This record gives sequence, structure tokens and C-alpha cells, in this order.
Amino acid sequence: MEIVTSITDFQNFLNQKRTSGEKIGFIPTMGALHDGHTSLIDASVKQQKTTAVSIFVNPLQFSPDEDFETYPNNLEEDVDICRKHAVDILFFPTQEEIFPEGLPEPEEIGGIGKIFEGKSRPFHFQGVATVVSRLFEIVGETCAYFGEKDFQQVVVVNDLVKRHRFPVKVIQCPTIRDDDGLALSSRNVYLSKDQRSDASVLYRALLEGANLISNGEKDSENITKFISGLVKDESEGDLDYVGIVDFETFTPLDCLNTSGKQVQILIACQFGNARLIDNIGVVIP
Ligand code: PAF
Repeated sequence: MEIVTSITDFQNFLNQKRTSGEKIGFIPTMGALHDGHTSLIDASVKQQKTTAVSIFVNPLQFSPDEDFETYPNNLEEDVDICRKHAVDILFFPTQEEIFPEGLPEPEEIGGIGKIFEGKSRPFHFQGVATVVSRLFEIVGETCAYFGEKDFQQVVVVNDLVKRHRFPVKVIQCPTIRDDDGLALSSRNVYLSKDQRSDASVLYRALLEGANLISNGEKDSENITKFISGLVKDESEGDLDYVGIVDFETFTPLDCLNTSGKQVQILIACQFGNARLIDNIGVVIP
């Protein structure tokens, strides 16, 4: 596996592969790799001839009170993981390499980046969109792999690709979970033992909510209230939001009356220092 820090070396490698007709799979990450990331890598390795991973902790997507300075960082382990999973090239740039002229003006995003996660973390998705645009400019034509755990991020990235006409196909991969259902996240390391055990309520609550929909409940408020109640009764977590959106348009839905339509239930909750998000898809019967 090649490890490069300069854009030129990265692009030379990718262009050489493209000249020999190889398609590139790309997984942008902030490091602290776990099985969620490796599932994206494995999907790319299976589907594409060449797999590139980037590790860049993007300052623009953290607000001042968030964990940019302390974000988990295990470069050596990440390199081992990438090697074991047959990554061809690891791009590990500095901030100066990515933003040589200093931090740029944030990318404009539409309304979808301003609700739910975007409302609770103002500027987060603008920061994500800014760095993802930069990375897509660098990588060029590619299939880019993103995890469904960050469902709203995938929606924002898809919108970005459409608006900028990036030659990028976004491939959305399923959330990877621990045995008790907790979605894997680099931030799970912040959880104490009790918080870790509490946090499994999120997936249980989502499953219960999905069951209500499958059993014919049409009123979103009844479902979100039920989920919120369950999280509050069964954990010390500080619930931020529960919402139901259209899977395709990300429009929040009050009434679930279109049979056959897939909706996504979204949840965010703080456990100690860890802000966790999760979601589940369900088709209206
Ligand atoms: O999902 C992440 O790890 C980050 O938001 C991403 C896409 C690498 C952008 O910094």
C-alpha cells in the first residue's frame, strides 16, 4: 500500500491507475477507523480495481465547543487496518495541503443541511460539504463510499455532487452495529461503561418505532413521542431529536400515509461526552 501526503503524489497514482483502465473507489474518513469504515473499504475493494482512503480531520465541520482537538487519532492502527483490507493508497494530507490558502469560505448548502443534525450543529454540514468538495476535486472520477449511519450527511453529499456535477457516484453502505445494536462510531470510545450500556437503547427504540410504522401507525408524532419516551425511560441519555423523513427527499413527514414509500427515522442523543446519531429505514405498509 502506498501512503502519500501530497496531492500531486496522490493524483499521479490515481491517474496512472486510470490510464491502465482501472476504476477508483474512494473512502473519505477522519481516521480512528473501525468496522464501519472497513465495511466501506471492503465494498470498494470488491467492486473497484483500485481503492483509495483519505484520512483528514476536517476542522471546518467542528464548532468551537466540539471535539476537534481531542478527536480520536490512531494513525498507526489505521495504517495497519488499511493494509489488511487491501487498500491501494492512503492519502494523509496536512491542513495546509488541503487548504493552502487558509480555511476557505464554507460551501453553501440547501435547507436539507439545516434541519435535524444541521440545526443542532450549525455549520457542520457546510464544513463537511467544503472538505468533501475539495476531496472530490482532488480525486476526480470515482465511486465514493459513505455509511448510512450518517444518513443526513449522505443526503448532503448527494446534493453536492448534483450541484457541482462532480464525476462521482455516491455509494451508500449499511450501518455496521455492535452485537447489542449500537451503531459503530469513532466517538463510541468516549462512552463510559454505563453510558455504553445505556446507548444501546437508541437502536432498540428505532426498531420499536419501525415496528409501529409496520403495524400501521400513521401519525409521526405518536411514533416520535413513543421513541423519545423509551429513550428517556431506559437511559440517562440527553435526547436531542427524533424525526421521520422521506428517504428520497429528506422532507420531514407528519403523516405516513403513502403506502410503499420508504421513510427514515432519525435520532440523536448525548451520552456524557459522546453525541450519537442513528437511523433506521422502514417501508410504509
Ligand atoms: O464521515 C466522515 O468521517 C466525515 O464527515 C467526512 C465525510 C470524512 C468529511 O470530513
